[in-house]
Amino acid sequence: MPSSAPLIRSKPKPNAHKPDIPISYDINIPYVDVDKQSKIKTPYPQYLPTWDPIWFDPLPPFEYNDPALRAAPHKPNLFASGNVKVNHIQPNIGSVIEGIQLNSLSDSAKDELALLISERKVLAFPDQDLIDDGPDVQESFMRYFGKPNYQPVSGTIRNHPAFHVIHRDGNRDEIARFLEARTTTTLWHQDVSYEIQPPGYVMLGLLQGPEVGGDTVFSATDMAYKRLSPTLRGFLDTLKAVHSSSKMIAHTRLTGGLVRKDPVDSVHPLVRVHPVTGEKCLFLNQEFITKIPGLKEPETKWMLDFLMNHIITGHDFQARVRWQPKTIVLFDNRSTTHSAIVDYLDDEYGAKARHIFRLIALGEKPIPVYDEFEDSE
Ligand code: SIN
Repeated sequence: MPSSAPLIRSKPKPNAHKPDIPISYDINIPYVDVDKQSKIKTPYPQYLPTWDPIWFDPLPPFEYNDPALRAAPHKPNLFASGNVKVNHIQPNIGSVIEGIQLNSLSDSAKDELALLISERKVLAFPDQDLIDDGPDVQESFMRYFGKPNYQPVSGTIRNHPAFHVIHRDGNRDEIARFLEARTTTTLWHQDVSYEIQPPGYVMLGLLQGPEVGGDTVFSATDMAYKRLSPTLRGFLDTLKAVHSSSKMIAHTRLTGGLVRKDPVDSVHPLVRVHPVTGEKCLFLNQEFITKIPGLKEPETKWMLDFLMNHIITGHDFQARVRWQPKTIVLFDNRSTTHSAIVDYLDDEYGAKARHIFRLIALGEKPIPVYDEFEDSE
């Protein structure tokens, strides 16, 4: 047979997708109890996700005083030891900081830390003793920066509902089913943007992670805004968006997961002013926006697709955090959007162990560009 003859192969069988089982909403987190095997393997069993039936009422408005606004600009208390090493991940976003133990900061140093988070947007602190100090100490550290958030659907740790647990270990069938329907595991979002006063500062603490992979990528939404033309910026400044937790809650109910709060819908400006830096930040994400009032449906989709694509593909205003053991990441949820990267999989889509807790400090009501802003549709 001449070598150019086509090879006859049998047609590949389509993947056996099971339409009756809904695929996971966010493949980075568990929605139902982890299996017993992973319970044995984890070095931090107290932080495994639980779903105790607790109910949370809507959050009433509250006054928020950002600690960064009290800080001394040169941060003499935060850098008091003189042995602090700051390595920038990118020139304008993200730093890795060594020589500071977060659990020994004074209140003035915490104010300065808030200022540094606002300036650098993402800070990674490897080798933190705070990781082993237990939930009470971790929670009280974050309360300094703002009120806690109680997650409406995901796993939390027993008696500490402010903890949101990110845990993958195995989960082969779930991940395989997810990747049959999706082309990537990334899900770019700002945390809890549907609340009336969404998070300002967020803490992620690594309890266990793969040797390589499982990075978290952040994009700076103030820099993304600045890259747009003055004409488009001027138009975006006038828009608002409806952020809703309803899709996430409906999906959780469909998968038989526990729901702890009714859906929350909030109307926020599409561009928000950062209370500390004064920068204008795009305020949108792939997860929670359902509507841009004043635009028609296809216009909304076009606008969101364009802006999200801009934020996601702008590697010149992104930082990727590589987790080292016992790293705590503190980030500004107002000037960034982020995604976990679930790449720590074996050939059959089984995940290596990755275990992170998240604590949130709720902040101010997003500040619009114009005073005339009305938070109704
Ligand atoms: C998140 O996606 O909110 C958590 C980030 C991570 O797991 O890396």
